[in-house]
Amino acid sequence: ADKGVVVVGSANADLVVRVSRHPAPGETVLGSDLEVHPGGKGANQAVAAARLGARVAFVGRVGRDAHGDLLVGTLEREGVDCSELGREQGAPTGVALIVVGGKGENAIVVSPGANSRVTGPEAGEAVRRIPEAGVVSAQLEIPMEAVLAAARAAEGVGARFLLNPSPPEGLLDEDFAREVLPFCDPLVVNEHEARLLARGSRQGSAAEGGQGPPEAGVQEPPEAGAQEPPEAGVQDLAGRLLGLGVRSAVVTLGERGALVAEGDRRVRIPGVPVRAVDTTGAGDAFTGALAWRLCLAPDLVAAAHWAVRVGAAAVLGHGAQSSYPRAEELPHEPGDAPGAP
Ligand code: RIB
Ligand code: NA
Repeated sequence: ADKGVVVVGSANADLVVRVSRHPAPGETVLGSDLEVHPGGKGANQAVAAARLGARVAFVGRVGRDAHGDLLVGTLEREGVDCSELGREQGAPTGVALIVVGGKGENAIVVSPGANSRVTGPEAGEAVRRIPEAGVVSAQLEIPMEAVLAAARAAEGVGARFLLNPSPPEGLLDEDFAREVLPFCDPLVVNEHEARLLARGSRQGSAAEGGQGPPEAGVQEPPEAGAQEPPEAGVQDLAGRLLGLGVRSAVVTLGERGALVAEGDRRVRIPGVPVRAVDTTGAGDAFTGALAWRLCLAPDLVAAAHWAVRVGAAAVLGHGAQSSYPRAEELPHEPGDAPGAP
C-alpha cells in the first residue's frame, strides 16, 4: 500500500479575534466578532497533507465536548484516519486564543487541555499499529515523552521522523533535546525557533548536554539584516542546527522561502511573493506538505520547494485549516507543470 503521513500531535479549537493593533499588557482593545476554527499544529499538519492528496492518520487527544466534536468532524471530513484519536473524559479539548492584527500577524496562547494527556506508550503503540507510516510528524504541543516515543516508534517501523519544535521552549530541556534531535530528519524551524536553538547551542550544544537554556521570555529576533547579512546569517544558523545532531534541517523564512541543510549541502529555496491576510498555521501547512512529499520521494530539497508554495497559499485566506490549498490551487513556479505535484 502507499506510504502515508502519521501526525502525532495537538488538536485545538482556535478562538480568533481580529484587531487593528495588538493590545499591550494591561491594555484593552475592541476586536471583531469571535470566530471558532479547527486548529492545533498537529491537526493543521494532518489537514494540510490530506488536502494535497496524502493518506494521513492522526494520533492525539481531544475532550468529550463540542470543540472535540468540531475537530474530529473536520479531520474525518478531510479523510484523515482518526482511529488513534482518543476522546478524553477528564480534560477539555485544547484551545488556542488567537489575536490577529491588521497585517495578518498573530499572537497565540495555547491551553493544551486533552493534548497534555497523550502518553508515551499510547503514542508509540499508535505509530506501530499504522503499517503504512512513511513519515511521522510531531510538534511540541503534546508531552515530550509522547514526542520521543513517536520518534522511537518511527525508527522502529522504518519511517522518517520530522519534528517542528513549536512552541520551541520544550527543546530547551536538555535531556529531551539530546534524545530527540538525532531522530529529526528534518527538524523544521522558523527563524525565531532556529535562533533560539542556535543560541542554546553556542553556549555548549544542547545535544551535548551543555549549559542551561537561554533566557526565557525570548525576544523577537532582530529584523533580518539588522546585525548580519541575512543570507550568511541563515546559512550559519542552519549549520549550527546540524551541529545540534539533527540529520537534516529546514529553516522556514516566511515570504523569503526556506533553507535546506543536509550534510554539507545548503540549498536556498526562494519565496513566493503574496499579500498575507492571515499567517496563522502557514508553518503547519508547510510542514504537512513537506511530510507528504517526503513520503513520495526522499529528496528534501524538492519537497521543500513544494512546501514553500503550499505555505504561501495558506496565508491568502483567514484561519489555518480553512485556508489550506488543494494541489490544483497552488501558485505555479516558473518551469512547473501546472498543478503538478
Ligand atoms: O500554528 C498555528 C496553530 O497554533 C493554531 O491553529 C493554534 O491552535 C496553535 O496550535
Ligand atoms: Na491562513
